[in-house]
Amino acid sequence: MVIIKNIRKKAAFYHIMIAIVMLCGFLFTDSGYVLAGSGKNVNLYAVGSGKTAGISNSAGGVDRPETAEDSSDSEDGQKYIESERIGIIYTGDSRIRRLNLTINMKGMKDTWVVCKSGMGYNWFVSEGIPQIDRLMKEKKYIDKWVIISGWGVNDLWNCGTYINKYTSLMKGRWSKCDLRLMSVNPVDGAMKSKYGAIPSFNSRIKSYVKKAGKNVFYIDTNRVMMSKGFSTIDGLHYTESTNRIIYKAICDEIQQAYASVNYKCIEINVNSQRTLTLDNYEGRVKWKSSDSNILKIVSARGTNNKSVTVKALNPGTASVMASFGGREASCEVKVTDNRVMVAYFSYSGETETAAEYIQRGVGGNLVWIDINDVYPYTEKKLAAAAKRELESDARPPLDSDTYAGVGDMSQYDTVYLGFPLWYGFAPRAVCTFIECFNMDGKTVKPFVITQGNEDCSGGMAEIKSLIPNAVVGEPFALDREKVLTKKAKKEIKKIFAY
Ligand SMILES: Cc1cc2nc3c(=O)[nH]c(=O)nc-3n(C[C@H](O)[C@H](O)[C@H](O)COP(=O)(O)O)c2cc1C
Repeated sequence: MVIIKNIRKKAAFYHIMIAIVMLCGFLFTDSGYVLAGSGKNVNLYAVGSGKTAGISNSAGGVDRPETAEDSSDSEDGQKYIESERIGIIYTGDSRIRRLNLTINMKGMKDTWVVCKSGMGYNWFVSEGIPQIDRLMKEKKYIDKWVIISGWGVNDLWNCGTYINKYTSLMKGRWSKCDLRLMSVNPVDGAMKSKYGAIPSFNSRIKSYVKKAGKNVFYIDTNRVMMSKGFSTIDGLHYTESTNRIIYKAICDEIQQAYASVNYKCIEINVNSQRTLTLDNYEGRVKWKSSDSNILKIVSARGTNNKSVTVKALNPGTASVMASFGGREASCEVKVTDNRVMVAYFSYSGETETAAEYIQRGVGGNLVWIDINDVYPYTEKKLAAAAKRELESDARPPLDSDTYAGVGDMSQYDTVYLGFPLWYGFAPRAVCTFIECFNMDGKTVKPFVITQGNEDCSGGMAEIKSLIPNAVVGEPFALDREKVLTKKAKKEIKKIFAY
């Protein structure tokens, strides 16, 4: 499905945007940059600023607006439910650092490494924990944190102090995290006498884990290494092949606990396709549909069949099931025939948030209008690119997932069409979209995201002129800052009658 591929593509972008915005603290105007804070001027458009860290989580890399009203919004319906997004933080000394050199966990999605060679408890408390806390605060799009701690080999005598610290963290601000304590792994040769206290450190940690709450676990990499054998380069640090054994042992635990299909539940139209992905699992996956009359498996994709494309055949409900490593995970797919598409263009995620909310109410296919190319990641360059596009009235080609997401246009009677206002007009990709797909005779209901300037009359006149044979409703403008406020939701429901 369109969105899922896009989610991956967008995730990197959102992270970069958040980082850029946090670093720069700038808003931009079409003529250049001004300092954030002077944003009272209605002509300043924040690309990916502030609220970028507050966009729908379903975009994979983006944060969900975390207002109480949003999370408790049970009357929203349940058409799309994402699985929990897991963030993993490895922390420890040179052994974790070297594990990262072999495996590059840091380069993996939603994974971070907080470590320092030669350090122990004091560094963990003064630097490591604050770094971890900062990560957890910044990456709001993560639903659940898993901390893998590999501390201890440099200060085995501090075992009780570590345990006290873990206890207080898990009772306090880490109470919603999973803490996975790695055993201190074996040493070799001459090091054996110096590190004789490893077994007793590990058994104290093991008995702490037994007594601790349900979200504290022990990863017994030491046992795996002893049974499989291990090799070191200096008696203390492991060879690459041993690091791979250690990582596999960690992965086995993580995958057992956190592997899931990226959506728990989706709704799609008859004849349309979606792609689903098994997250937090790296081995081979087998996919099947619980009812091949309703839902057909089109193809498994990616390394080890990590993703699957399914096609909706008939109305009804079926599950897409992933079998992996002796386990199963599934996504419930409701197939409807309500002849509705919610199509949207979104750069920084606000229109996407509104589109998802609307789709939850009206149902049908949710399609991201995405271009084949990628818009620049920096605000200044985006502004320039958007301006160039508008001035030349370009038609940027759409990517193949947009076509696959739309499928057969004849299956829709109503198209909800969302886009941000760019210099008073729709981004040119929206023009490509409406020219590519035949909208004759369809009802088109536009919704436009603005920032300060709610006059979308120019943009709407253009849209109408491009689809003279469609019935185009009055545009519904939403300010980017208020996309999911209670008032905006009420208004959306009223305007779109659900
Ligand atoms: C290149 C560019 C031009 C913009 N021009 C306008 C505009 O003319 N009027 C307006 O109200 N907002 C304008 N904005 C602000 C967007 O409407 C706002 O950032 C919106 O949230 C973007 O939606 P998105 O998050 O779905 O990409 C502009 C933003 C960009 C990036």
